[in-house]
Amino acid sequence: MSTQYKKTYLFANWKMYLSFEESAALAKELAAHFATLQSTVEMVVFPSALATQATVQVLQGTALHVGAQNVYSVDKGGYTGEISSEMYRDIGVTHVLVGHSERRHIFHESNHDARQKVEAVLAAGLVPVLCLGETKIERERGETQTVLETQLRAFLQDIVWPLGRPLFVAYEPVWAISRGTGTAAVGEFCEPLEAEKMHILIAQLVAGLISGVDPLILFGGSVRPHTVQGYLAEPHIAGVLVGAASTDFVRWQAIVKNAVG
Ligand code: PGA
Repeated sequence: MSTQYKKTYLFANWKMYLSFEESAALAKELAAHFATLQSTVEMVVFPSALATQATVQVLQGTALHVGAQNVYSVDKGGYTGEISSEMYRDIGVTHVLVGHSERRHIFHESNHDARQKVEAVLAAGLVPVLCLGETKIERERGETQTVLETQLRAFLQDIVWPLGRPLFVAYEPVWAISRGTGTAAVGEFCEPLEAEKMHILIAQLVAGLISGVDPLILFGGSVRPHTVQGYLAEPHIAGVLVGAASTDFVRWQAIVKNAVG
């Protein structure tokens, strides 16, 4: 565990991997095994929209938090198929992923959309997790820094950050994220040192955009039980955002064990 941070952040993004029944079953296993957590660990699970309320209920009274994978930026109205930050907050959700690369690339969410969502999440009193990362092509073209800078500027420029609200950023290089639906094959391996370099860059960029708030920067991209320790050993990696490997209890338990003992 990095000594720079008071806690290790272990965030589980279940994406659309689990049915309602599977989500409820996994939540029950988590509730049984992680009813109490060391005070140095913060665990948040992000179920599908469908399973959110059931997960909140199952995890009530435990140390775990529940987040939303996506929200719409308006609080109420004629927006077929959407769910607002307020609606999630009212059922007990505390965190929201914003700007995840799958939202950007599959659902064509723009930097502008992501900014609108951050503002809505903050207004609802929730904690946004600002997701960013470059694609393989952008990296090969030497555009990584520009891409990260553009994404961060959209998220944070001239924003009024509520006092005391944590600022989570998830660096998730698109080329490292697990691929596929059925098999969730690992993406390309992002060396911990490379991730660390990007985290340092992100910390510098955030400092240039917003003062007085220290970001908590998580790494995401095919994190597995045998790789989690390498990432967390880096001084600027405060935690991990895990997709595919967080949807299986045994693998998640191994990740938690290897992360924090
Ligand atoms: P992965 O997903 O761990 O399955 O690569 C991470 C993420 O996209 O949040």
